[in-house]
Amino acid sequence: MRIFREPVIYKPNEIFYLTPLSDAHVDAASCDKVALQSLIAERKKLKNHYFIFVGDVGNLVVSTDTKRFTPSVPVNQLASSDNYTKDAADYICKTLGDIKVAGFCMGNHESAYLAHNNTCFTDILAYRYNTRNLGYSGRFVFDMRKSNNHSKTQLNILYHHGAWAGKTKVPHGFKDWTRPHEDWDIAMCGHNHHLATETEARVSTPRSGNRTYKRKVHYVVCGTYQDEDCDTECRAMPGYAERKGYPAAIVGTPLISWSIKETSQTQAKRTGQAQRYKDIRVTI
Ligand SMILES: [Fe+2]
Ligand SMILES: [Fe+2]
Repeated sequence: MRIFREPVIYKPNEIFYLTPLSDAHVDAASCDKVALQSLIAERKKLKNHYFIFVGDVGNLVVSTDTKRFTPSVPVNQLASSDNYTKDAADYICKTLGDIKVAGFCMGNHESAYLAHNNTCFTDILAYRYNTRNLGYSGRFVFDMRKSNNHSKTQLNILYHHGAWAGKTKVPHGFKDWTRPHEDWDIAMCGHNHHLATETEARVSTPRSGNRTYKRKVHYVVCGTYQDEDCDTECRAMPGYAERKGYPAAIVGTPLISWSIKETSQTQAKRTGQAQRYKDIRVTI
């Protein structure tokens, strides 16, 4: 599995933020751009903030996508484009604006576009934002150091665009997929257009002492900005989600925050935990 690393210098208790933005489907008429742009404006105000896109950034439904295409799927200004790749990239970058992006994941819409049109749209967005193409799944590690020669504390994120639908908001298939992977703090996916989080305990053995200790892991299902009901262009034809009978989605994106805390030697000995530990929070 691929690993990407982001080096970070921190001060104890300093808070860092990550917005895992998934399934924006920006070039679709059904993308709620008002909600998306207000989310971006709000999150950009946070200090130490990163965006990671968790796939389906582009809807990219053109005539080669016989499963989803009708002429009114893209926003009006792209509906008669003769150069969809370039025009959609321009449109998406203009909509997202000037933001700091740690990486772009591929989703099934980007991989369908690659298969049908020999074009990796994720590479194009990564190039435009001077960042990484994270692929469909992988690990993203924030290597947190107090100073350049200080030992690392890692915030370890496992990600996959998603391949799991179904009725549960945190899909069982997604949890099954995470099972062989060790040492992660956050596992995030998109694709099912739900917004959900769930926290579980993991029980570990300390290096010394006679008590196990617990740490938290967080599943994060990253939501969407695709909402058939926001289609202000009032197209006549029913879209793919409507035809398939997908339930109405609540648009939104979780916010992950973390800081590195330090505790006394006595407290660390008592709990078996390290003296330095991660305080991770997820809000939706
Ligand atoms: Fe999606
Ligand atoms: Fe998807």
